[in-house]
Amino acid sequence: MTETRSPADLAAMVSLVDFEAPGQANMAGPAVDYIAGGSWDEITLAENDEAWRRHRFVPRVLTDVRHVDVSGSFLGRRTALPIAMAPMAAQALAHPDGELEAMRACAVAGIPYCLSTSSSRTLEDVAAAAPDAERWFQLYLVGSLGYSRSLVERAEGAGYRALVFTVDLPVLGYRDRDRRSGFALPAMPHVDGAGPPDRMRYGGLEQQHELGLGWATVELVRSWTSMPVILKGILAPEDARLAAEFGVDGICVSNHGARQLDRSIATADALPAIVDAVDGRLEVWVDGGIRRGLDVLAAFALGATGVMVGRPLYWALAAAGSAGVERAVAILREEIELGLALLGAPDLAGVHRGLLA
Ligand code: FNR
Ligand code: LAC
Repeated sequence: MTETRSPADLAAMVSLVDFEAPGQANMAGPAVDYIAGGSWDEITLAENDEAWRRHRFVPRVLTDVRHVDVSGSFLGRRTALPIAMAPMAAQALAHPDGELEAMRACAVAGIPYCLSTSSSRTLEDVAAAAPDAERWFQLYLVGSLGYSRSLVERAEGAGYRALVFTVDLPVLGYRDRDRRSGFALPAMPHVDGAGPPDRMRYGGLEQQHELGLGWATVELVRSWTSMPVILKGILAPEDARLAAEFGVDGICVSNHGARQLDRSIATADALPAIVDAVDGRLEVWVDGGIRRGLDVLAAFALGATGVMVGRPLYWALAAAGSAGVERAVAILREEIELGLALLGAPDLAGVHRGLLA
């Protein structure tokens, strides 16, 4: 790990893609592949990015955009921007204090930070690093149901304000890059020791399927907590409808950053039918391939109520720790602000399907 980059370098960054090379230069090759990669042939990986870029805006003019409001709203609370940092495993790969640095940056930027069950540091340590952060906990069932419940209770006790239950990983996707490199995740305090130590590439996650994930699990997990519950990993409108029937507070339209079932539909393509199916009954977040503020605006135009950003913030963390993440979010902020003004919309609520060709 080389030293963090200077502020001058950060000021020269103009797009999230600019963090990739410096971030990757600070990491071992197999870790770069683990983060950058998708599953199988990485068909969905490419399509996630492309699908946002296919949409074309039809802007309005003469709407007086001297003041545009870039704030967002998640679960009834205002946030500085309509974006959150997606849960991503083992941020020690990017920085020795990975999750701590990332959550601090999100707190400064005023956006929610979602901590993965597969984090490099305990949820309590991360919470202590940024007591005022809007923080969420992402749940994988690990070890036993009883142990998983204890994680949820610990998260609620440590001031996490939402439970993001990831439902698209009953088994891990087939990841050529990690199989070739022999990559194994580094220490993960919530996961290590929770299950048998015989399959260690992804810690205890290899066993999620043994616990079984079903709609009954959703009800069970809900009963463990008074935090709002969001189901992450929805692609089918019928599953979105079921989520609404089961009374969760939100869903995240996601294909896990194209790391699970390759040849899954791109999230931008899945979103409109899901928005229609849900019909305002719950919040609809989306992630996968969000790389520019204009992607965020396209997501809102298609009916998303919030957006999560993954890999670009991992690279920013690797490039310069919390300062890198802050800079990346500042870039997104400026892009969203300019994009809104040029769309002729005063705020995110004013972005709708009528602004798309
Ligand atoms: C992830 N993702 C993920 N999701 C989750 O629910 N729990 C996790 O622990 C992880 N871990 C993880 C590690 C790495 C390295 C990546 C890249 C992704 C998926 C993540 O939350 C999100 O869905 C995608 O990353 C979004 O796509 P983009 O923005 O990376 O294209
Ligand atoms: C991944 C798991 C940890 O995508 O969510 O690598």
